[in-house]
Amino acid sequence: MPRLIVVGSGIAGLIVAIEASRTHSVTLVTKAELGESNTRYAQGGIAAAVFPDDTVASHIADTLAAGAGLCRPEAVEVLCAEGPARIRDLIRLGVEFDRAGAGAGEAPGAGVGAGAGDGSPVEADAHRDPTDGLARGLEAAHGFPRILHAGGDATGAVVERALVRAVRLTASTVLEDTFVADLLVENGRVAGVHTVSTTGERQVLRAEAVVLASGGAGQLYSHTTNPRVTTGDGVAAAYRAGARLADLEFLQFHPTSMDAPGNFLVSEAVRGEGAVLVDEQGVRFMPQVHPDAELAPRDVVARAIAERMSRQGGRPVFLDATGLAAGELGAGFFAARFPSIFEECRRNGIDPATQPIPVTPAAHYWMGGVETDVWGRTSLPGLFAVGEVACTGVHGANRLASNSLLESVVFAWRAVQALAKGPTSLQAGPAEAIWVPSVGLADGSAGLGFSRDALQQLMWDAVGVHRDGARLTAALAQLDAWAAEQASGAAWAAERASGADRREQAAPFGALEDDNLLLLAQLITRSALARRESRGAHFRSDVPGTDEAQRHHLVTRSEPKVLVSP
Ligand code: SIN
Repeated sequence: MPRLIVVGSGIAGLIVAIEASRTHSVTLVTKAELGESNTRYAQGGIAAAVFPDDTVASHIADTLAAGAGLCRPEAVEVLCAEGPARIRDLIRLGVEFDRAGAGAGEAPGAGVGAGAGDGSPVEADAHRDPTDGLARGLEAAHGFPRILHAGGDATGAVVERALVRAVRLTASTVLEDTFVADLLVENGRVAGVHTVSTTGERQVLRAEAVVLASGGAGQLYSHTTNPRVTTGDGVAAAYRAGARLADLEFLQFHPTSMDAPGNFLVSEAVRGEGAVLVDEQGVRFMPQVHPDAELAPRDVVARAIAERMSRQGGRPVFLDATGLAAGELGAGFFAARFPSIFEECRRNGIDPATQPIPVTPAAHYWMGGVETDVWGRTSLPGLFAVGEVACTGVHGANRLASNSLLESVVFAWRAVQALAKGPTSLQAGPAEAIWVPSVGLADGSAGLGFSRDALQQLMWDAVGVHRDGARLTAALAQLDAWAAEQASGAAWAAERASGADRREQAAPFGALEDDNLLLLAQLITRSALARRESRGAHFRSDVPGTDEAQRHHLVTRSEPKVLVSP
């Protein structure tokens, strides 16, 4: 059987490993334990037009509208049309979505953590469509309640658990605690990966194809809903190998993360159930900002919150969910519908049934990444990318809520089909692409010493929810200066030695991750400077309008380096 390496163990990587194990000898490589990924922390759910009163056309329209003119229509059609079939596949693989009824009707909390509700496997009844009777939620910018959820607000954890179980039943080899430092490129095609173990041992793994499913890079920012593994390693490795990257300037900031260490996500589904945003005076402010108020597009809500926060000295605003207790389930509603958020609120001394939750925006999802076609093929033969690491173009400038798990499932399945046809690459990038120069090094000196914290703070302040040309330029000078120091070796190593040593104990690949984060920060900042307009999640106060002449994708690529096997 041909060999396949899958990098990453979120929903996308696990599905590729499970499905490809029929035709390939699969090695799945992940830098932490198998279940650890962004997927595990997804709350709200997964969107798909599975209900008889919904339509694929309406899901397409909502996705295109959220994407602010930059979605690739072909990819969006694939996503929305194939979504319902992939949901059935997930159920077949053992994912138990919450079901309506079971005494609580369509109401939130229905079937929380109970799978089929009656304890029987969903697929046991061959005459029943497994999506019949699923519970549904509403999230921002969806014209229709089409969000499936599991475990109440623990959708990602339920999905991840089922898929980890399923992958363990295949013959796939799983390498945990193994970092993919770079791609092995031979004769212009990807032929494997260079790995590093927690003890620093280096290895080359060879394969006929590599699928990157290594997720996003929320750790670029001082506030993020993402776990600490999200350091963009796959995008950075693909760049160094010479793959085309696209739409890097588009990072989504979730409006509501808890204003407490760790920025625990407070799902949009809470607003979907009727919670409202108030400032520190208790005044509701979203109705004055957008006709859809709290359910306006994510970028609009995130910016409105950031603006309120800056008017009140940087202090958080509040998500008031106390009104939800007025329903049938009374004060028990929140705990039943949102058990994980409830638990986190209680850990922070808040009772969401009676007290508003302090919230702040936080980096959440990267729309840009390794450019692919609708089969997960990248510009490099032998290299595929699926999930958040990829830029399929389905999200455009701003992702519609709960489309990310769906994208992973749909395109992971497609990548497996494409794999069967051999290690081809996408034929050409989109015609409307503009090149951003690849990273160079400024000769300025660094104002600040490098540390991960300093990088994250710089990105948050200058390349975050609000951007402007002057601050982006200054940030790029600092990033380039750090990179120049890094390239010169000694000073860089000395600068960060103490911090890195401390971090290594908790994160064994900290230094490699820092290198990747710095590279990605440079690329994102260059792209953000190159896009001289505001569109979707990319907002520049010096050019606040959207410019139709810039309705194109920004792409970048390095000169590939030949990496010599040790
Ligand atoms: C949420 O639950 O608010 C997050 C859902 C998503 O990011 O798609």
